[in-house]
Amino acid sequence: MRDGFHFYEPHQGHGLPHDPFNAIVGPRPIGWVSSQDRDGHLNLAPYSFFNAFNYTPPIVGFSSIGYKDSVRNIAATGEFCWHLATRPLAEQMNASCAAVAPEVDEFALAGLTPRTSQVVDVQHVAEARVAFECRLSQLIQLHSAAGESLETWLVMGEVVGVHIDQSLLHDGVYQTAEARPILRGGGPADYFEVSAEQNFKMARPG
Ligand SMILES: Cc1cc2nc3c(=O)[nH]c(=O)nc-3n(C[C@H](O)[C@H](O)[C@H](O)COP(=O)(O)O)c2cc1C
Repeated sequence: MRDGFHFYEPHQGHGLPHDPFNAIVGPRPIGWVSSQDRDGHLNLAPYSFFNAFNYTPPIVGFSSIGYKDSVRNIAATGEFCWHLATRPLAEQMNASCAAVAPEVDEFALAGLTPRTSQVVDVQHVAEARVAFECRLSQLIQLHSAAGESLETWLVMGEVVGVHIDQSLLHDGVYQTAEARPILRGGGPADYFEVSAEQNFKMARPG
C-alpha cells in the first residue's frame, strides 16, 4: 500500500463516507436531453455521464443507469436533442430530473418552451442557447470486465443539426464561457460554473 494514499478496489467498497468516483471524474458536462415517445409525448432529463466522442461526424453520448424513459423513447424513435445546461437554466435543468410518469412532460414541469426542430421530429428547449439535434447511432448495453451485463445503457447519437445563439459567436468564434455552462461535480448537489477567469491557453507540442 502506498504511504499517504487511500487505495480501494471498488467491488469491495470505497471505505469512505461518500463514493468519490463521480467527484473525481468531474466536473462533467451535462447531457440535457429531450426525446419523445411514439405518441409524441415529450420528455426532458439531465444525464451527467455525458460527453462528445467524435468530431466528424460529431457524436455525443450519455449513459443511463437503468432503462429510463429517455432511452426507451430514443430506442423507439431514433432521435433526441441535446441542450447546453447554463447557469440561468440551472433550476429548470434540475426540475427536469424529477422521476415522473412517462406521459408527464418535463418541459411543462420545468416551465420551458418546446420548439420545433429543423431536422428531427423531437422538439428542443427554446430557452437553451445551444441545442443539438441528434440521430441515434448506437445503443449499447454496458457489461463489466467479467462480461456480466449491467443495467446501464450508453446512448450514442450523431449530431445532425446545431443551433447556436448568435450572441455567443464573436466574429464567428464560439465563446465557451459566455454561455455560463454548468458542470456536475460529485455528491448530491455539487455543480461548477465555467467562467472566463478559469481559461488558460496551452499549445500542443511540435
Ligand atoms: C445533473 C444530473 C445529472 C444526472 N446524470 C444522470 C446520468 O448520468 N445517468 C442517469 O441514469 N441518471 C442521471 N440523472 C438522473 C436522471 O436525470 C433522472 O433519473 C431522470 O428522472 C431520468 O429521466 P427519464 O426517465 O425521463 O429519462 C441525473 C440527474 C441530474 C440532476
